Amino acid sequence: MSGHGEAIAMVARSGAALRGVAEVPGDKSISHRALILGALSVGETRVSGLLEGQDVLDTARAMRAFGAEVVRQGPGTWSVRGVGVGGFAEPADVIDCGNSGTGVRLIMGCMATSPITATFTGDASLRKRPMGRVTVPLALFGAEAHGRRGGRLPMTLVGAADPVPVRYTTPVPSAQVKSAVLLAGLNAPGETVVIEREPTRDHTERMLRGFGAQLEIEDLPEGRLIRLRGQPELRAQSVAVPRDPSSAAFPVCAALIVPKSDILVPGVSQNPTRNGLFTTLVEMGADISFETPREEGGEPVADLRVRFSNLRGIEVPPRRAASMIDEYPVLAVVAACAEGRTVMRGVRELRVKESDRIDAMARGLEACGVRVEEDEDTLIVHGLGAGGVPGGATCATHIDHRIAMSFLVLGLASKLPIRVDDGSPIATSFPAFEALMAGLGADIARVQP
Ligand code: S3P
Repeated sequence: MSGHGEAIAMVARSGAALRGVAEVPGDKSISHRALILGALSVGETRVSGLLEGQDVLDTARAMRAFGAEVVRQGPGTWSVRGVGVGGFAEPADVIDCGNSGTGVRLIMGCMATSPITATFTGDASLRKRPMGRVTVPLALFGAEAHGRRGGRLPMTLVGAADPVPVRYTTPVPSAQVKSAVLLAGLNAPGETVVIEREPTRDHTERMLRGFGAQLEIEDLPEGRLIRLRGQPELRAQSVAVPRDPSSAAFPVCAALIVPKSDILVPGVSQNPTRNGLFTTLVEMGADISFETPREEGGEPVADLRVRFSNLRGIEVPPRRAASMIDEYPVLAVVAACAEGRTVMRGVRELRVKESDRIDAMARGLEACGVRVEEDEDTLIVHGLGAGGVPGGATCATHIDHRIAMSFLVLGLASKLPIRVDDGSPIATSFPAFEALMAGLGADIARVQP
């Protein structure tokens, strides 16, 4: 799994309409943060609805290596006995974060201001991804990173013995970078300030406040400014993890492109830093109703009723990119089934995800008979309308869960089946994907490679 194990080839075929209720798993971003903040708190944090995907399990293992007691008590129910801010122990071995950029970058942040040394690695996908975006600001606190050329893993981080607080403007729109700086700021004296030009997902800020940190947020003309007072005592909390809107995206998009489908996806986050895909789908003509809006686990949520729709291509506003950054692969699939062009600009960050997602989607869509255009920062999909995608190809997933799930969704609506070369990375974020989709009536199966 996650690039370390056997490849699992899979195939999706068109067939029956999708019907039923899709209960997607816990949010990945919030699950990582629940374990990390629990480990940095005093007392016992209890977590329910934790995503038990490989990425989060790797973070649980890492938190144990830094000295926290992390225990699974039942499905999705976990307990974390933290060591307090500044209490991390030096790990006895290399920290393997598997496939998870969020895991490694956030964990680097929260150890960077402790006088300990740790070495990080990951799978073949993670070892290609840039870590300089976090080690540059962490160096301002006094931490020292020694990695491979280009700031790649494996990498050793020597934490600052006498950390100083930092004021940092993030050069790329990244919640991982913002969060790494805030988590490092926890153990620096004084005030750490992060400024982001475009708002990115705000789970770290919301949860830090929930755990008792003093944090102020100001919206200024130059962007969002976050001010954190260092060396707080974080207090253990009960965290109810809401469902993951990025996982909900797959059944939602499948229902929109498979004729006669009608599904309900309960408890989908409407957090404005995460809901850009749903806004975009509605602009494309999607029949989605947002029922019973309420709050769950500190996040605004709604139940989504989704029916098959005839969609049209649109221009996605670039300023929306951060609020749907993980959803572009499946949006590209929906775009292939819409009438006309869908233009996705301002998406260069997709090139440094689990794979180069612009390239992975462009090559896979072309193999399925869809015309695309791309440049460094743009993906344009020429839609073929409902039922118009030929399919009949094998798509490479490049150790990327979202590329795998996206092409399997497309296979449910294409004329010929679509295979993916390796669906094993799906277990990093959505271990129940196959069962959930089968429950809706989708024809997705494992095949001999
Ligand atoms: C995440 C932030 C995003 C996103 C990732 C999860 C997080 O990455 O792509 O899946 O939990 O902070 P970037 O911060 O690099 O944009």
